[in-house]
Amino acid sequence: MSNIEEIKKRRTFAIISHPDAGKTTLTEKLLLFGGAIQTAGAVKSNKIKKTATSDFMEIEKQRGISVATSVMTFEYRDLLINILDTPGHKDFAEDTYRTLTAVDSVILVIDCVKGVEEQTERLMEVCRMRNTPVIVFVNKLDREGQNPFELLDELETKLGIRVRPLTWPINMGADFKGVYSLFEQKLYFFKINKTKIESNVVEIDLGDDRLEELVGLKDAVQLTEDVELVEGVYDQFSKEAYEKGELAPVFFGSAINNFGIKELLDTFCEISPLPQPRATDVREVEPTEKKFSGFIFKIHANLDPRHRDRIAFLRICSGKFERRTFYHHVRLNKDVRFASPFTFMASDKSVLDEGFPGDVVGLYDTGNFKIGDTLTEGENFNFAGIPSFSPEIFKELINLDPMKSKQLEKGIQQLTDEGVAQLFNLDLGNRKVVGTVGELQFDVIQYRLEHEYGAKCRWVPMNVTRACWLTADEKSAMDEFIRLKGNQIAFDKDRNPVFFAESDWMIRMNRENNPKIHFHFTSEFKTEVAL
Ligand code: G4P
Repeated sequence: MSNIEEIKKRRTFAIISHPDAGKTTLTEKLLLFGGAIQTAGAVKSNKIKKTATSDFMEIEKQRGISVATSVMTFEYRDLLINILDTPGHKDFAEDTYRTLTAVDSVILVIDCVKGVEEQTERLMEVCRMRNTPVIVFVNKLDREGQNPFELLDELETKLGIRVRPLTWPINMGADFKGVYSLFEQKLYFFKINKTKIESNVVEIDLGDDRLEELVGLKDAVQLTEDVELVEGVYDQFSKEAYEKGELAPVFFGSAINNFGIKELLDTFCEISPLPQPRATDVREVEPTEKKFSGFIFKIHANLDPRHRDRIAFLRICSGKFERRTFYHHVRLNKDVRFASPFTFMASDKSVLDEGFPGDVVGLYDTGNFKIGDTLTEGENFNFAGIPSFSPEIFKELINLDPMKSKQLEKGIQQLTDEGVAQLFNLDLGNRKVVGTVGELQFDVIQYRLEHEYGAKCRWVPMNVTRACWLTADEKSAMDEFIRLKGNQIAFDKDRNPVFFAESDWMIRMNRENNPKIHFHFTSEFKTEVAL
């Protein structure tokens, strides 16, 4: 098969949701529909059990499982579909943000009872930054949820994206009868069924007299009215608007009951984008280019001291990746090759001989990689769009054993290269500050510094809630701002200046008083903060 045919076959996406909305269940059902697994429960969940939230070793053990489910590949309707798993636990949100840089589209799962939750809003912000196309699946219709019109309103206002329902539910909870497909004019009848995939479908126009026989007078009237309202209020579905990340089609269903999945998957196959071109610091790279290129978006460390290897996840962006071939590691300016790169079919790991754009390859790494690294066939460019996001918790790292300063330095550099946390430097006094999105990472870092690098540390909490990356109209304005703000200015690993703010109010005030300085919530400077 030619490269172009291989590219056309591939769809690489992630399922995102607030924890408990049904991401794991939906993933599993998609694999069932795709024939990649035979029984429900076959996919080990990447989900971190609630009972273990204070025990990070336990969490890391559970996270170990997630290597096996990091990428799940299955074939469906002649397509090769790669699902990139994302951790649901809030403390690992950075992992999820970065995974979103490696996909071409996402499916967002919403719990119809809870509606749009906090984590969903954050994840969608990241999708919007990159204009990632989104399909919404409203789950758990077998439960008494919110009114569907209100849910759609909430999606539009909270997520800042236009929506267009493609199916419509007939009731919810105990009275849930099924959905009407607005684009196929078919009624899908709901039945509680956690094990089998079966569907009872009737092709019918809403004006048809049989509708009343099928769903009863009250529900026939309600459905007809609802659909009229939908057609009146929402624009027609446009693939172009979807591809630009402006319009999200919405499906209703119940993942646990295998209901609504097939319509979702079929539509996904029809509209979801193939591997897309990617921006670099030099030029845009087309997937169809002959020469291979790709970037590292995730590094998974093995906490088991007997196996100190790490796994770096590479997204292929162009050309063909081949085993045992030398590729150029742009940051290190050296050539590297891989004896046993691997890929995943469902949950089986297997050695990969060749890979194509859209594919994700697992590479054993002994410390050569950090997040965002680019591999090419010789050309020097770096893929853009793998930003750091502002952490939420900041603590100063204090060395408890002056004899082990070097080990501590090396350890913290390597751990932050893996993306466990972000490292900042306060130039005054050469102090090191670590920023994370969850408390858990501080325990992880402390433990790993001690066990892997023999260095002891403690943490001193800082009164900082946001880090804003700074740019300025003129260098002199930046120099002056840095001089004035003293210890509120830190530098990230690439020596970009960052403003440490106690509150959003503080950012607003500083922005008003310093119009030549621009504040950004990510290390890539597309948009200024909106406060
Ligand atoms: P997550 O990955 O987004 O965190 O969610 P997950 O799929 O684990 O689902 C969270 C809970 O919601 C699970 O129940 C799951 O069975 C349930 N669930 C998923 N889809 C549906 C649905 O369509 N209807 C209903 N009523 N429930 C659904 P749990 O009790 O937390 O776990 P489990 O013991 O069932 O595994």
